[in-house]
Amino acid sequence: MAVSHARGRTQKVKRTADGQKTIVGKIHPDVLAFTVGKDPVLDLELAVWDCLGTAAHVTMLSRMRVKPAVLGTDERNRVVAALVGVMREVKDGRFTITDADQDVHLAVERRLTERLGELGRKVHTGRSRNDQVAVDIRLHVRDQLLGMAGEVAALAEGLVRLGRRHVKVPMVGRTHLQPAMPSSVGLWATAYAETLLDDLLLLEAAYTYNDRCPLGSAAGYGVPLPVDRGLTARLLGFSSPHHNVFHASNARGKNEAMTLAACGQIMLSLSRLAEDVILFSMPEFGYFVLPPELCTGSSIMPQKYNPDVLELIRAKAATVLGYGTAVNTILKALPGGYNRDLQETKELYMEGLRVTRASLRIMTLMAGALAVRPGRLRAGFTPGVFATDRALGLVAGGMPFRDAYHYVRTHLDELEAADPDQAIALKTHEGGTAGLDFDGYRARVGDVRRWVRGRRARSQKAFSALLGVAFDAVR
Ligand code: ARG
Repeated sequence: MAVSHARGRTQKVKRTADGQKTIVGKIHPDVLAFTVGKDPVLDLELAVWDCLGTAAHVTMLSRMRVKPAVLGTDERNRVVAALVGVMREVKDGRFTITDADQDVHLAVERRLTERLGELGRKVHTGRSRNDQVAVDIRLHVRDQLLGMAGEVAALAEGLVRLGRRHVKVPMVGRTHLQPAMPSSVGLWATAYAETLLDDLLLLEAAYTYNDRCPLGSAAGYGVPLPVDRGLTARLLGFSSPHHNVFHASNARGKNEAMTLAACGQIMLSLSRLAEDVILFSMPEFGYFVLPPELCTGSSIMPQKYNPDVLELIRAKAATVLGYGTAVNTILKALPGGYNRDLQETKELYMEGLRVTRASLRIMTLMAGALAVRPGRLRAGFTPGVFATDRALGLVAGGMPFRDAYHYVRTHLDELEAADPDQAIALKTHEGGTAGLDFDGYRARVGDVRRWVRGRRARSQKAFSALLGVAFDAVR
């Protein structure tokens, strides 16, 4: 007995000697189960987007100038009302995808046909599952990237706050992990905030890449019908259609790779931040203390408070980078046009987004709760940390730098009395320990939030107009 998994429930699939009946013919049940893979579960995440894509497609069909009309306005309205019903089923967890459906696209068509009879059998006119899945994924990715951008903004804001609170707390700056030059907790924390804000450049690029509509490309070669591709793009709030229909089809997988590249860079930033916190909260350093409720204990050693979440973020960075590599490798020698290999990229991009967003949220908790110990940070200063500052002091008195360098190198014992607080107050140039632009950081975080709000409002407006009901209510 073959088994399919819908929302974690298992259900039995009927087997016959000549195959399992599906909407597109009879298929051997083992072949069906193998090719369907995890789609019945993964595609639940695409279901609302599939309904929206279908609503746009049937709206376009109803306005298409052909005789006889493919769909009348009244028929279009009935299909859209049924789609709203399906979206409610999805929202309430009543919508399921079976192995016989294969994926969300045929499951939605089945539900429409169950609800509307003959009319449901018309909706697939002039489209393919290839442009359907492509549009679903783009809508899903756009939505996820906006959520992720908001989470990056929240973490950057938390790190800027941490930096501002401790802007005057000295911290040893290191290269090769060896003590190097005077730095501050303010410089350290805001550097990671700025890294993450820069990572959003890639996220925005991924968003832009996903902001073009593939509908009308059908199987990848267009259709002999006067489809209005600009209209479906507008109805779904896309900036435009992908122009070349073959390119629209080949962009599947690329979208996911771009998305995972953005996730990968964010995870890299989080991983380095995690590593710093793990290191500097070791008792031997004691610069930072993780709040006990964010640590885990040991089953045998009663004294333990372990930074497991940071270790997991460090490891998950490798996992997400691996997902990106997997997608790129699937694409590498793939011939042009749709190939089933592409289905395999679905779980990878979905997991990449899920893991990255979860890591951002947990790191935001960390940043808000990290305790800073100024005494331990000051005690970390060894005389050598002031050597470069001292050489530059001699330069200010007229000595050539190389002479000053050699003088200090041979008189390191004279550096004893330097004051770290004074040292960090002296770097007043842009971006130095005493030259950090906190207003600039606040403005950048604000820009991100405005960008997210603007994009969300645009989609929300388009989706609500298309469905004739508030999108939020059915999502
Ligand atoms: N579940 C399929 C996927 O994710 C949908 C597209 C199927 N298209 C096809 N030509 N078999 O790729």
